[in-house]
Amino acid sequence: MLLPDELRTALDSALSRFSPQDLSQAAEQLTERYRAHDPGGAVPFMRTPQDVAAYAAYRMPATYAACTAAMGRAAALAPGFAPRTHLDVGGGTGAAVWAASGVWPSLEQVTVVEQDAKVIELGRRLARTAPSTAVRGASWRQASVRAGLDRPAADLVTMSYALGELPERDVPEVAVWLAERAALVLIVEPGTPAGYATIAAARDALLGRGLAVLAPCPHGGPCPIEPGRDWCHFSVRLPRTSLHRRVKAGTLGFEDEKFSYLAVAGEGAAAGAVPPGARVLRHPGKRKGVVSLRLCTPGDGVRDVIVSKRQGEVYRLARDVEWGDAWSH
Ligand SMILES: C[S@@+](CC[C@H](N)C(=O)[O-])C[C@H]1O[C@@H](n2cnc3c(N)ncnc32)[C@H](O)[C@@H]1O
Repeated sequence: MLLPDELRTALDSALSRFSPQDLSQAAEQLTERYRAHDPGGAVPFMRTPQDVAAYAAYRMPATYAACTAAMGRAAALAPGFAPRTHLDVGGGTGAAVWAASGVWPSLEQVTVVEQDAKVIELGRRLARTAPSTAVRGASWRQASVRAGLDRPAADLVTMSYALGELPERDVPEVAVWLAERAALVLIVEPGTPAGYATIAAARDALLGRGLAVLAPCPHGGPCPIEPGRDWCHFSVRLPRTSLHRRVKAGTLGFEDEKFSYLAVAGEGAAAGAVPPGARVLRHPGKRKGVVSLRLCTPGDGVRDVIVSKRQGEVYRLARDVEWGDAWSH
């Protein structure tokens, strides 16, 4: 999944102020801090303008790709949903805002809540080049998110790679706050056990308030994945730009970003929403004449299913299905 040309060009120009060495060093330090993972810690992960630039260079393409993938799956299940207003919380340099404008061109008004002024400065600079008038005209609000903060009404509310940065005890309350009066809430986190745990805590809180999961889960029951043994996550492939390769040591021309996500529908989006049937939880095993699928099912937990060539049309469909797709056959 490629960054939009305008975003790539704006990033290149914003990053040209820094030497590749400074960016690589900042990227390494950022990775270390994220690895040490101190949710809600007093010191922010991004501390200097170099850190912010390094984040945009080496993480924004991946978070943009994960947001686009998760939004695409939610949009596929709510075909009538055409949001006009979008609130992005912990918006960083704007990955989710760019992604949403690609998935929902109906968006007219965008608000980003972000706690860090340096991050807002870069996000705003990038957004000025966006083809979407909603992104270009986004209102960037410097604030720390908490449940009591006054929340602008928005049809679409997103929080990507940010909920897990809050103290664990705040996650349920903030998740419920995100969902207040929203037609669709989408939370994206890294596809790690910790990211999935954040998503699971948000899911429990939202279902506890009577909201309906749209994706990825095909049911509103307890998650059948046993904590500690596995975690619900998906993957999106993105090409590494030359800049990305320079900042992030590595020789591959692409990378696979793993992400966990949750889309919860309020009334507007739920009208006409199609339940996914089942969700494909792994890369399907494709051998001659046989496709094996690990599925999360509505009534039967996680099931391994074999589809064979003898099943004709269902087999042909299974040949094309990918990890993360809905499966209704
Ligand atoms: C890992 S970045 C993710 C940025 C962006 N959403 C993305 O997907 O690329 C997390 C962002 O959340 C912001 N953040 C963390 N805690 C926050 C809080 N309590 N209130 C507002 N923003 C917060 C950070 O400043 C940072 O910009």
